[in-house]
Amino acid sequence: MCGIVGYIGVKPADYIILNALKKLEYRGYDSAGISLLTAQGNIYTEKEKGKIVNLESLIFEKNKKISSYCGIGHTRWATHGEPSMINAHPHTDCAENISVVHNGIIENYTQLKKELIEKGHSFKSETDTEVVPHILEDYLKETDDILEAVNNTIEKLEGAYALAIILSGQEPVIIGVRKGSPLVMGVGDKDYFLASDIPAFLEYTNNVIFLDDNEIVILKKFSYDIYRKNEKITKQINKIKWDAAQAQKSGYKHYMLKEIYEQPEAVKNTILDKVNFTKKEINFENFDESIISLLKECSNITITACGTSWHAGLIGKFLIESLTDVTVEVDYASELRYREKFIKPNSLLIAVSQSGETADTLEVIKKYKKLNAKVLSICNVLGSSIPRESNYTIYTHAGPEISVASTKAFTTQVTVFLLLALYIARKRNSVNNEDFENYIEIMKNLPALLENTINATANMDKIAPELSKYSNYLYLGRGINYPVALEGALKLKEISYIHAEGYPGGEMKHGPLALIDENFPSVILLPKDSLYEKMFGNLNEIKSRRGKVVLFTSDSNIYDNLNDYADYIFKIPDCDKFFQPIVYVIPLQLLSYYIADFKGCDIDQPRNLAKSVTVE
Ligand code: BG6
Repeated sequence: MCGIVGYIGVKPADYIILNALKKLEYRGYDSAGISLLTAQGNIYTEKEKGKIVNLESLIFEKNKKISSYCGIGHTRWATHGEPSMINAHPHTDCAENISVVHNGIIENYTQLKKELIEKGHSFKSETDTEVVPHILEDYLKETDDILEAVNNTIEKLEGAYALAIILSGQEPVIIGVRKGSPLVMGVGDKDYFLASDIPAFLEYTNNVIFLDDNEIVILKKFSYDIYRKNEKITKQINKIKWDAAQAQKSGYKHYMLKEIYEQPEAVKNTILDKVNFTKKEINFENFDESIISLLKECSNITITACGTSWHAGLIGKFLIESLTDVTVEVDYASELRYREKFIKPNSLLIAVSQSGETADTLEVIKKYKKLNAKVLSICNVLGSSIPRESNYTIYTHAGPEISVASTKAFTTQVTVFLLLALYIARKRNSVNNEDFENYIEIMKNLPALLENTINATANMDKIAPELSKYSNYLYLGRGINYPVALEGALKLKEISYIHAEGYPGGEMKHGPLALIDENFPSVILLPKDSLYEKMFGNLNEIKSRRGKVVLFTSDSNIYDNLNDYADYIFKIPDCDKFFQPIVYVIPLQLLSYYIADFKGCDIDQPRNLAKSVTVE
């Protein structure tokens, strides 16, 4: 998830673009770049590693100020090619007559790059994006019609992309293309803006055009045209009523709420470069014969992590053990780091970390590597320490997670574990074709399922005032949803400072049931699955002790007879049990969010916590 910007008008483009990029830095901040069209019609490009201030100082301190009224800019969240100056955007063609910034993932870039190199193109970076200017370069040799050349170019691209493109030449022009990644247009008095998100240009105009998939916009100095393929279309201009602070969070009150709502897109981006839905195949970049044979032959796997990532690890254990005959242990990194443990050479450690910088997890990796174990990490930050230390890494593409309490990183980590479990099962022939293809089909609709779940539970704020009165909670789930109960309890603890415990439903009568009375509410996950009856029994055990119940269920019957079973009840879309954790955690995230918000807590920066604990 990167941030892209385009500007054409009467103001100094470098200042406008740098300022706009700063407003999008929450989308990625490992490198940044800018391309400007000079008065002579040439393209001048600067890029720098790290935050936008680095690029800014490069341009201003080195007096590299260029007078220009047209340009594009990018702030990067690396997905392909580590954070570096070379991999920073914009990317140009061989003759530097075309410059492109991109947000999204071009799935078939390796094939396209191979074909272009065979045709004599030379590449500078490891990115997927760089194929775009080279393909366009070829088409612009065949026609002067920019729209035709751009249409032919995007015809070749598979995946998701929002693009902003400038061309050298006397008449300034910016081309914007949207497919699968967000792109909005700002209509100013004498200028036009393109951006991944509205905050980029809100201080200049609040007249916004929302571009839809497969739309192309061509901006000129004093005019613009929007096309769907070759057909010119008109689009409504919307007036946005946000203040600057609100804008940073795209209108959401907190980053946490924004990141909860971003989960459908984050999960979609995480699946995109791993599943070929046409061929019904799962593949992980950089997996070689060595890891594939280890996954085929290993008899046990150790998963290690901290915090929310550890809960994702518990679900990973459930998925791998349900779909294969591999035994999986899950260990807190802070414990495993110091444990006397015989580690067999060639055993497999899976380390899970959003930030890629958590000290305990990193130390476990070093410990295992010293004993020649293989390390596979699941991480959200390209180029961070944990992927660097690991033999293999599978990246979640949740984009930057700003709020300390993890939400979208968790659902994307569980999505990766589901893909990995299916992949191992496929390699070990422990899943039949029909089931495998059925899971791939469900995976395809997962983003929509999450969208529906968010919409179905968005009114959680209504019950927050009542529920914020209690000082203890019990979260209950069974089977694959036990770790989800743990995660729900952790979310409430992290941001509302209310004590909560997650427990397997069947364990309740071995202790926690003693806590239950009308002042100790329980949050219960009751999907309509093979454990339904058992969980329903636990629900009644609590009701018969007058315990308050907040119930999340996919069972419409119960839903219709509300008062008999729970004090608050939310209907959750039904889904296959392996997908339930990704669905059921969302209402628990929203519940903790609205209770904390009602209490006026500092939700994005809770007391005593940090986004990544890099020290012991
Ligand atoms: C904590 C964060 O510091 O670290 C949690 O507040 C997170 O949200 C935990 O789950 C582990 O972090 P990571 O980056 O290794 O997943």
